[in-house]
Amino acid sequence: MATDPSMRAVRFHEYGPPSVLVVDEIDRPEPKAGEVLIRVHAAGVNPIDWKLRAGYLKDFMPVTLPYIPGLDVAGTVESVGEGVSDFAVGDRVFGRGTGTYAEFAVAPVTTIARIPDGVTFEHAAPLHVGGETAWVALFDTAHLETGQRLLVQGGAGGVGAIAVQLGHWKGAYVIATASAANVEFVRSLGADEVVDYTSVNVEDAVHDVDVVIDTVGGAVTAQSWNALKPGGILVVVAGMPDTDAATARGVRTSGVMHPAETRPVLEELGKLVASGDLKPQIGPEFPLGEAAQAHALSETGHGRGRILLKVAD
Ligand SMILES: NC(=O)c1ccc[n+]([C@@H]2O[C@H](COP(=O)([O-])OP(=O)(O)OC[C@H]3O[C@@H](n4cnc5c(N)ncnc54)[C@H](OP(=O)(O)O)[C@@H]3O)[C@@H](O)[C@H]2O)c1
Repeated sequence: MATDPSMRAVRFHEYGPPSVLVVDEIDRPEPKAGEVLIRVHAAGVNPIDWKLRAGYLKDFMPVTLPYIPGLDVAGTVESVGEGVSDFAVGDRVFGRGTGTYAEFAVAPVTTIARIPDGVTFEHAAPLHVGGETAWVALFDTAHLETGQRLLVQGGAGGVGAIAVQLGHWKGAYVIATASAANVEFVRSLGADEVVDYTSVNVEDAVHDVDVVIDTVGGAVTAQSWNALKPGGILVVVAGMPDTDAATARGVRTSGVMHPAETRPVLEELGKLVASGDLKPQIGPEFPLGEAAQAHALSETGHGRGRILLKVAD
């Protein structure tokens, strides 16, 4: 158990490029009522982390500087706040915390779950942002059913790689888009068809889809409408849904409405990982001191699965 009240944490003191990320020695956070303090083993590196760091979101998601990025976490419970009875010191947990690019981070008990036996910290770490988003988009928003046709735009990414697997597990016919280098990778996740968007016009190649999960945004969102059958739904993960455009085409659209309490979804995802039905895909792993390199890689917008910060063994 820890005796030193300080910790190493990655912070940015000003908005800017990846180089504004520095490792500071600071006090550990204290878990408030309803929270736990987690000794972080692995933290997911998500696009929202660098969007916050760069200041792209400062008008509607301002942060207090200096700021520790990071939402995805897997680790062990170090201490519990007042009133916490669902988790105990030493429990292996994963989910959404605050400032997880650090040796210790707090999390509300409503957004974490126990890591099932046999599941590693690395495999549990990407399940909140990628897994919970994919689950809510597919099942709570689009109500995907067995036998339906699903298109996952961006099937190789942190969200897309999980959406492809969940769609396959549900018994949908899964079509996914990826660059040439990721076609076989995405097929190995259970996609029935993979369209190389670098050589094929996806608008021409994919039709009569019940559900589109768009994890790319921009022009890809605009090109997704034609894939839908009448009454189908485009769930926009990256960007804002355009309901006027959907209505004009006789289809539906939605963003992703995350529930305040995500533990039930995390528990479902954990079971699927434990059973082997869901295999979290891990990209390169970096130590805390190389968070800037991790951000620069994530900012390319290309790659496979979720980049991780490996904080402890
Ligand atoms: N609304 C929400 O709650 C929510 C939650 C999570 C994420 N997001 C957002 O969703 C987006 C995706 O997140 P992520 O974590 O999955 O990102 P990521 O891990 O960086 O993955 C991005 C993926 O997009 C693929 N890609 C890039 N351009 C493409 C194109 N034109 N067509 C098809 N695939 C393309 C890349 O694959 P290739 O290498 O094969 O090109 C890459 O694997 C981000 O903007 C993120 O901020 C929103």
